[in-house]
Amino acid sequence: MKKISDRIYYIGVNDFDKVLFEGLWPLPYGVSYNSYLVVDEKVALIDTVEAGFEEEFLANVHEAIGERAIDYLVVNHMEPDHSSLIAYMLEKYPSLQIVANAKTVPMLQGYYGTSQERIRVMKEGDSLCLGSCSLSFHMIPMVHWPETMVTWLAEEGTLFAGDAFGTFKAVDEEVIDNEDTFEEYRDEMIRYYSNIVGKYGTPVQAALKKLSGLEIKRICSTHGPVWETSIPQVVALYDKMSRYEVERGVCIVYGSMYGNTAAAADALAMELEARGIPYAIHDLACNNAGELGVSGALRDVFKYDTIVVGSPTYNNGIFPPVETFMKALQARLIKGRRFFAFGSYTWSGASVSLLNAMAESMGYDILGAGLSFPQAYTREKCDMSAVADMLA
Ligand code: FEO
Repeated sequence: MKKISDRIYYIGVNDFDKVLFEGLWPLPYGVSYNSYLVVDEKVALIDTVEAGFEEEFLANVHEAIGERAIDYLVVNHMEPDHSSLIAYMLEKYPSLQIVANAKTVPMLQGYYGTSQERIRVMKEGDSLCLGSCSLSFHMIPMVHWPETMVTWLAEEGTLFAGDAFGTFKAVDEEVIDNEDTFEEYRDEMIRYYSNIVGKYGTPVQAALKKLSGLEIKRICSTHGPVWETSIPQVVALYDKMSRYEVERGVCIVYGSMYGNTAAAADALAMELEARGIPYAIHDLACNNAGELGVSGALRDVFKYDTIVVGSPTYNNGIFPPVETFMKALQARLIKGRRFFAFGSYTWSGASVSLLNAMAESMGYDILGAGLSFPQAYTREKCDMSAVADMLA
């Protein structure tokens, strides 16, 4: 528990045990599920946390408000990392009323069997008086589910933002950011955005436009630190990512069965290094512990303007981990990238032309036919020096 202001308490938890967020995304630095109490004449709980943290969560509530009752549970977002203790809290606090928008209601009923009498439905701009302050509710659909909304506490300039402005990586005991926090979380924020929200650039832009009129002094997201010091940087990063804007640089993404496509990828990395071209490299077969696979590759696709993809030909097609990555690009509607493909084959090369066809379908600027080479990698068969010159 951490007191954020006279009225606001952080009562979230850190999860260091979950291996894959949403069953997909690695969590090398953990993740926090953030929940908050707004304490006034009435007490409002903003979201809950993931199942499995019942005791810690309730202990945090008690540390903040003792045995006092909670009057309202505001549900900004129904994904179960935030909603799965709703039924538990309704049981613990029999007079607790859920505050949610209309799109949330069938999800509450479907996930948790919540009865209609416990739900108070709010529309865009509605407010709820807690005594000396009020909460108001603003819809931000598809950031990143259809029911998502934010809750605004004007008296404190505080935005309870749901997943918006969230990030992977657990929080420290300070919870509130300082001047170093943004850089500490920057990469994990980009990875979170690209993995979880990345498809919804247009709705994020709409949400940013809607929120731009607010004088925000504090952002309380559902993941990561409470932002006070770094609000301009955090908002600017979300704005940039949702516009799919990137820097000049190369994201090399490859999979390899026996090391030949990997050797070509490493050769390109060395050539880029020698030229001072920013790059990142990702082995999708995850041959070494700590590699982030598609999750890390997506992060760097949201940083750099050039994607170079390597795949051996496998079953006359694309190596499956690489195909998964290409489909992840398609699913996120990532646009405006330069693209180059390479890869080895044994008796018939198909992967490079198939990769180029997928890239073409996404409207990418395809830089040449690619480099498809037979059997073992050699510099003569696969000249990455020339490729690096082209990418410079
Ligand atoms: Fe953190 Fe979309 O849930």
